Amino acid sequence: MQRFTDKVVFVTGAGSGIGKASALRLAAEGGAVFCVDLNREAVEATAAEIVAAGGEATARVCDVSDEASVQDSVSACIERYGSLHGLVNMAGILRFDDTEHLQTGDWQKLIAINLTGTMFLCRAVLPHLVQTKGSIVNAASTAALSGLPCGLAYSASKGGVLAMTRSIAVEYAKRGVRANCVCPGDINTGMTDGIKFPKTMDFELMPRIMSLTGAKAPEVVAGVIAMLVSDDGIHITGEDIRVDGGTLS
Ligand SMILES: NC(=O)c1ccc[n+]([C@@H]2O[C@H](COP(=O)([O-])OP(=O)(O)OC[C@H]3O[C@@H](n4cnc5c(N)ncnc54)[C@H](O)[C@@H]3O)[C@@H](O)[C@H]2O)c1
Repeated sequence: MQRFTDKVVFVTGAGSGIGKASALRLAAEGGAVFCVDLNREAVEATAAEIVAAGGEATARVCDVSDEASVQDSVSACIERYGSLHGLVNMAGILRFDDTEHLQTGDWQKLIAINLTGTMFLCRAVLPHLVQTKGSIVNAASTAALSGLPCGLAYSASKGGVLAMTRSIAVEYAKRGVRANCVCPGDINTGMTDGIKFPKTMDFELMPRIMSLTGAKAPEVVAGVIAMLVSDDGIHITGEDIRVDGGTLS
């Protein structure tokens, strides 16, 4: 399949996990991928892997929670490639806190990256996507759909992403821009490898976030993201697709 020939897709969080797998998948299908991440070494490695495989990619450091950094990165993408057909917003962080001991600074950081950062990107690319009738895929989570114990800030950020994505989908539908979410659950990435739980965590509640199929590779989410960005998803907008191995089924 070469669904992204002559198309340019901007991918955040491209240095690791689902963002990296998405960048590789979009490039393998012929797309030029503008890869951004906070981690320079990681994002450069992703772009280098794409180029080594014969694809087209650019790497850039971008802090999605910094408005100027986002605006500069989108401008750099347009300068480099001239147009933009898709945005895959995967940058994010996760932390678990006992709700009564959640620090205000930790709440603010999580909301700044996961929710405000997603908004900064959507807002910056929309004028370009209107030109190409492009598509956005944002990272929500099963945490947006079901209670996540000790996940107050993360759940709030992902619920916000879900609501914001539906809002964009409706506002831009007549202008030909689609916006959807993926809601991954229990995918093996840097994020899930490094999880730390508070002492009060009740692990009897954890089956609610455990996959039943065992298909936990980030590539399984990347395949769904590629479908949503491509014209195969032409009649899908304002949707949230769970890729969670049946956790919430
Ligand atoms: N892994 C899962 O099971 C799972 C489940 C539900 C939702 N998600 C969501 O999917 C998305 C991708 O997660 P992942 O599992 O691949 O995580 P990951 O940790 O492997 O990758 C996240 C990437 O985001 C980057 N990043 C963090 N802060 C940033 C910032 N301020 N600016 C730019 N880049 C930044 C990191 O450097 C990292 O490369 C996240 O939004 C996450 O919340 C993941």
